[in-house]
Amino acid sequence: MRFFVPADAAAVAVGADQVASALDEALRRRGVEARITRNGSRGMFELEPLVEFQSDRERIGFGRVRPEEADGIVDAIIGGSRHASALGVVDALPFLARQQRLTFARCGITDPQSLDDYRAHGGLEGLDRALEIGQAATIEEVVCSGLRGRGGAGFPTGIKWKTVADSAADQKYIICNADEGDSGTFADRMLMEGDPFLIIEGMIIAGYAVGASRGYIYIRSEYPHAIASMRRAIETCRRTGLLGAPMGPAAFRFELEVRVGAGAYVCGEETSLLESLEGKRGEVRAKPPLPAHVGLFEKPTVINNVLSLSAIAFILSEGGEAYANYGMGRSRGTMPIQLAGNIRNGGLFETPFGVTLRELVEDIGGGTLSGRPVRAVQVGGPLGAYFPPSLFDTPFDYEAFADRGGLIGHAGVVVFDDSVDMASMARFAMQFCAVESCGKCTPCRLGSTRGMEVMDAILAGVEVDANVALLKDLCETMKFGSLCALGGFTPYPVISALTHFPEDFYERRKQPM
Ligand code: NAI
Ligand code: SF4
Repeated sequence: MRFFVPADAAAVAVGADQVASALDEALRRRGVEARITRNGSRGMFELEPLVEFQSDRERIGFGRVRPEEADGIVDAIIGGSRHASALGVVDALPFLARQQRLTFARCGITDPQSLDDYRAHGGLEGLDRALEIGQAATIEEVVCSGLRGRGGAGFPTGIKWKTVADSAADQKYIICNADEGDSGTFADRMLMEGDPFLIIEGMIIAGYAVGASRGYIYIRSEYPHAIASMRRAIETCRRTGLLGAPMGPAAFRFELEVRVGAGAYVCGEETSLLESLEGKRGEVRAKPPLPAHVGLFEKPTVINNVLSLSAIAFILSEGGEAYANYGMGRSRGTMPIQLAGNIRNGGLFETPFGVTLRELVEDIGGGTLSGRPVRAVQVGGPLGAYFPPSLFDTPFDYEAFADRGGLIGHAGVVVFDDSVDMASMARFAMQFCAVESCGKCTPCRLGSTRGMEVMDAILAGVEVDANVALLKDLCETMKFGSLCALGGFTPYPVISALTHFPEDFYERRKQPM
């Protein structure tokens, strides 16, 4: 018999470790020969801990399992009866069946720490092909795929790689940005815990393509499970010669290590991340020069998000065109969208670009968990715009979001019901910026604190018209005068809240002073 119980942090947080122990005990007591694999999560968080039983043909799920249910589940399987927590065939559950999983194809399916299992499910085919077709053709595949940076900015990955490949230097680096800091996002973490070899394969391919022999994966300290998972996987790759040993006709060698951040949001910004990696305070560098020219230790450096690097293996094994066949407009391929906040079916939903916000929130997400009407969603993290239901027909697409004053960012969708006070959310954006600002430039360092004060006045109903005008002026200055996206994008949530929910700002006038 074979069972799967996720070791993903989200499943562990709701008792997966205890469920795995109880299942092990129950099987032992009955003298049943069985193997329990600690897999990644399937991304249906409301069903965690999700226990899966491998039958002859398919995997049968048991949802929200409690340790005390382990005996009953084993007895039901042995006796051929149905247990109360049984969900049926996992792959047929609508939340999963509706997805197009290219990046997350293996997450939750394989044993994340088994390189053999990774290989058995198509792993390393992308690397093999890259080594076969050579460096220039590898970059061409990535260009042809249309892949754009999944960290948020959407810059074409192939062009970034080409820039680094064309920069002559004695040393180049590949950095995987795993400082996943956006609110409501967890896709990077899920992959690091659920399919770590996929990220390593993407980094090796990137290193080979641009001529970089060293890589770093920079993970936020808040992700201890992901850090442990990546370190173990890297160790396995070293032991088996995938890292540190010559490979391919050109005897290419790649070395890789994990570096842990210290908890600053701004260290997800690439130049601040470089400072942190070099052992300095995480402060933003002015661009240009771009990291692609002058990056880590002043050497040409590719910095890609976890999701960008995790799309590479598919692009190489299946071809850039196969990836580009999905999506809409200039947004090609699939996007692992993270549904979070006040939503019934929260979790990871990978789908081609083009799905609308309405489908995501109302249909796939099932509306709010509270059962109250949806009032707003914030897409793209704490610096993303708030969209009201009247904009829910917006397709998930970089350009469509930009046209409506929003951004996709790292594809975190956070849902709010009608009890939310949008003026307070605008204040929160300013507060977030004030707390996380690296302090290098004035519009962000001082502007965010002044922004909080202005919002406090609005919230208190003091001279609302004049303070709203001041707020707009301040946002204009922050947007165009800040050095990086933290100060520059904070106006998005503030101005979108004001534009789409003005009543939450102006009704304060009625309050007694
Ligand atoms: P950016 O537009 O300055 O650059 C995007 C990337 O393209 C960078 O790696 C840059 O070095 C590279 N690049 C730009 N021009 C290039 C060229 N000509 N050749 C080669 N490479 C080039 O954007 P930035 O400031 O790096 O990122 C902003 C984004 O970060 C925002 O859109 C936001 O959504 C996102 N973000 C993501 C977070 C997360 O947790 N994933 C957290 C906070 C912000
Ligand atoms: Fe630092 Fe803020 Fe300026 Fe960015 S915008 S460089 S975080 S002070």
